[in-house]
Amino acid sequence: MRMILAPSILSADFKILGEQIRITEEAGAQYIHFDVMDGMFVPSISFGMPVLSSIKGATDQLLDVHLMVTEPERYIEEFARCGADSITVHEEACGDPGKALDLIHSCGVKAGISIKPKTPVETLIPYLDRAEMFLIMSVEPGFGGQAFIPESLERIRHLRSLLDERGLEADIEVDGGIYHSNVAEVLEMGANVIVSGSGVFKGDIRKNTEDFMEILRRYE
Ligand code: DX5
Ligand code: ZN
Repeated sequence: MRMILAPSILSADFKILGEQIRITEEAGAQYIHFDVMDGMFVPSISFGMPVLSSIKGATDQLLDVHLMVTEPERYIEEFARCGADSITVHEEACGDPGKALDLIHSCGVKAGISIKPKTPVETLIPYLDRAEMFLIMSVEPGFGGQAFIPESLERIRHLRSLLDERGLEADIEVDGGIYHSNVAEVLEMGANVIVSGSGVFKGDIRKNTEDFMEILRRYE
């Protein structure tokens, strides 16, 4: 399976955002993770469409949009228009998650669905054959720099077994508190898309990215 690093720009320095994204691209990161927060589904507010449009012109990396937004259906078409390559909605935030996934597909974009740490993994069962990516939050969504919740490991393993039982090869993305020190455990449980904000953007971005990529390649 292809192992992917998705640096989360929530932890980037926005006055030199383009430069920092370019470093992650040169060092091998295939995606850019784009955290949209509305101050309702999560307490904080981050960034939205104009920033996504700017990034679209600045990198060839796939733009992985994570909507931490109440009723994300309202914004799917607009994020697709601004350049999203994948859009992930929260199961907890949608009126009808299946419909939201269909809407994402109708925009020609890869569809993802996410659950917060306290939402049972079984909640995803109705959508296993309706999305290309499943995002397990390994921290409470809303802020970068939090500690990885250890129970997430078992949740990843469980989800991978539910997909395997059905012969489905979807991506499992994991988001929150992932660093060089714990990424191997996450990969071993069956995840293949790794989000990291602080682990990439705090300190030497090039070296942080290269070190992540070296570990990821061992699991391909
Ligand atoms: C948290 C966001 C994450 C965040 C991860 O709600 O969804 O993508 O940027 O940041 P780190 O890697 O610092 O935990
Ligand atoms: Zn995220």
